[in-house]
Amino acid sequence: MKTTALLSFFAASQLPTCTATLSAIHRLNVSVTAAENGQSVIQCWQLTKPPSLVTIGDATFQSQILGDLQSGSLNVFPTGLNLGLHAAPTKQWVIVLAGSIKVYLQNNQSVANTAFISSGTSGILLAVDTKDVSPVGHITETIEQTAMLFMPTANGTVPEHRVLHHNVCAGEDLL
Ligand SMILES: *[C@@H]1O[C@H](CO)[C@@H](O)[C@H](O)[C@H]1NC(C)=O
Ligand SMILES: *[C@@H]1O[C@H](CO)[C@@H](O)[C@H](O)[C@H]1NC(C)=O
Ligand SMILES: *[C@@H]1O[C@H](CO)[C@@H](O)[C@H](O)[C@H]1NC(C)=O
Repeated sequence: MKTTALLSFFAASQLPTCTATLSAIHRLNVSVTAAENGQSVIQCWQLTKPPSLVTIGDATFQSQILGDLQSGSLNVFPTGLNLGLHAAPTKQWVIVLAGSIKVYLQNNQSVANTAFISSGTSGILLAVDTKDVSPVGHITETIEQTAMLFMPTANGTVPEHRVLHHNVCAGEDLL
């Protein structure tokens, strides 16, 4: 199955404060569990494709393409669930619909390397540290009951991006 995801953001004025707004020059930045030298690392990536204006009915809004997808599943995790060390099961988008998670590394638990992902327009993680590139992986815990959409990329592809920096997206990355 080949589907294409559109992540839609309505007028910025309707968004709560401290969440990402999009414009043609503000490409989506997302925290990623990536792999370097056979180990998971946390990085902030910027998608190469900029948001575009999409019209549905009478409304025009900013829309960010996430790329071709393989499938999707809705997953509900209880409070305090700890997955322990694991590689990403497949290269996938993780969209937090409700609740929040903590994603971190075994060998560096610094704040800069710990991704707290909560529901909202910044509630997105890209997990591409699959076993073939990171046998050990990363750790994921839920902070509260959490509902997540898992959306594997088509054929295990990695979305076009540039690496902004190591560590989670923060500050100016999420304006
Ligand atoms: C852990 O990560 C932080 C932030 O990237 C870095 O400054 C620090 O040197 C790292 N610590 C180790 C032990 O690698
Ligand atoms: C995935 O792989 C199949 C089989 O090789 C191919 O037909 C399809 O176009 C690919 N899809 C994407 C999005 O690359
Ligand atoms: C992404 O990060 C860059 C560099 O920090 C920033 O200029 C841009 O505004 C950010 N994009 C969004 C949507 O916040």
